[in-house]
Amino acid sequence: MKALTYQGSNDVRVETVADPSLVAPDDIILRVTATAICGSDLHIYRGKIPGMEDGDILGHEFMGIVEEAGAEVTRVKVGDRVVIPFVIACGQCFHCMLDEFAACETTNTGNGAAMNPKSIKPPAALFGYSHLYGGVPGGQAELVRVPKANFGPFAVPDVLSDEQVLFLSDILPTGYQAVVNGGVEQGSTVAIFGAGPVGYMAAACARMLGAETIFMVDHNPYRLDFAKATYGVIPINFDEDDDPAATIIEATAGRGVDASIEAVGFEAKGSTTETILTTLKLEGSSGKALRQCIAATRRGGTVSVPGVYAGFIHGFLFGDAFDKGLTFKMGQTHVQGLMPELLEAIGEGRLAPEVIISHRMKLDDAAKGYEIFNNREDECRKVVLTP
Ligand SMILES: NC(=O)c1ccc[n+]([C@@H]2O[C@H](COP(=O)([O-])OP(=O)(O)OC[C@H]3O[C@@H](n4cnc5c(N)ncnc54)[C@H](O)[C@@H]3O)[C@@H](O)[C@H]2O)c1
Ligand SMILES: [Zn+2]
Ligand SMILES: [Zn+2]
Repeated sequence: MKALTYQGSNDVRVETVADPSLVAPDDIILRVTATAICGSDLHIYRGKIPGMEDGDILGHEFMGIVEEAGAEVTRVKVGDRVVIPFVIACGQCFHCMLDEFAACETTNTGNGAAMNPKSIKPPAALFGYSHLYGGVPGGQAELVRVPKANFGPFAVPDVLSDEQVLFLSDILPTGYQAVVNGGVEQGSTVAIFGAGPVGYMAAACARMLGAETIFMVDHNPYRLDFAKATYGVIPINFDEDDDPAATIIEATAGRGVDASIEAVGFEAKGSTTETILTTLKLEGSSGKALRQCIAATRRGGTVSVPGVYAGFIHGFLFGDAFDKGLTFKMGQTHVQGLMPELLEAIGEGRLAPEVIISHRMKLDDAAKGYEIFNNREDECRKVVLTP
């Protein structure tokens, strides 16, 4: 089969590789009908995620048709059309029983990314996301093996197109969890940092939950323009305004927003010094967007972080967070638990995640898709690939 493989920093290629086969009795083999490139894939593409090996198959946003099912699979059958959560969870362990699927204790054979975990088990395995998270082959491929098929695969009705439901695999639940973690409700004021796909999904979900004012911070004018037109956000371009938090505070009666959402992650564009420290690996993350979130949030408010972080950050103003009595919520998305209500919202027309798609390409052209998305070329917002 054909699959998009990692070959080192800034080098991904579609290659012919061996077809996957069933390993455990609760595995399925899925024939992929649609898959997307995520901002998380860009961290890998830029060589910033440890534990990658040449030839690893990428991709954790995908859906398709069940091609083959193991003897113990009861939840789905051959021919079913399903969306696959990017988090692989068993549904039965301590954390799964708490609906904390991204913390599933049984699926990850790797070590996770924590620097001081002691004897705590690593979090859930992820598709196509380095050997730290299990080294599980991803779904930017014609076929993919899906473990834990009695828990993950989520059947979707035929009346909804692939494009309408594909983002249930990751970015839609991620944006939703981010605003729910932020306590966003009717009348809330929200600041979203990052006008990428995750920021867009957060904006869509914040609107659905009744947020009154949404600020969005980025420096790609075309991305901000889209968010303004689609979600009615107040755009702030940090190339033109070097202190977005100050602007946000001024615009919220001098208090700051109820919730800030950090949808950028550890590669946030920071100061030159921070960029050097991060490049030299003296710093895990620039911390720029996180500092802005802390500054922009009102006393007693919440900073919600879907953006991916690893390692340590200097200049993390924990004292300011304490002084303001902030709440922090963060982490990988507990996808499985959020899919049913989000599917309902799509079905009822309250969410239309597919509107962010800017590029539709063949899997064969996936390397070009990575390049365009990474370089923000051609007004790229989101790339969907079809095998
Ligand atoms: N928690 C989860 O389960 C989960 C799931 C999916 C994605 N993610 C993470 O969410 C983050 C965003 O993903 P995406 O697909 O939207 O990525 P993306 O790279 O397309 O978008 C990130 C945006 O942030 C902007 N940005 C850079 N520095 C900034 C700064 N200092 N302030 C404000 N904006 C800044 C960039 O210009 C870009 O438009 C990534 O870190 C990704 O790994 C997490
Ligand atoms: Zn993702
Ligand atoms: Zn589990």
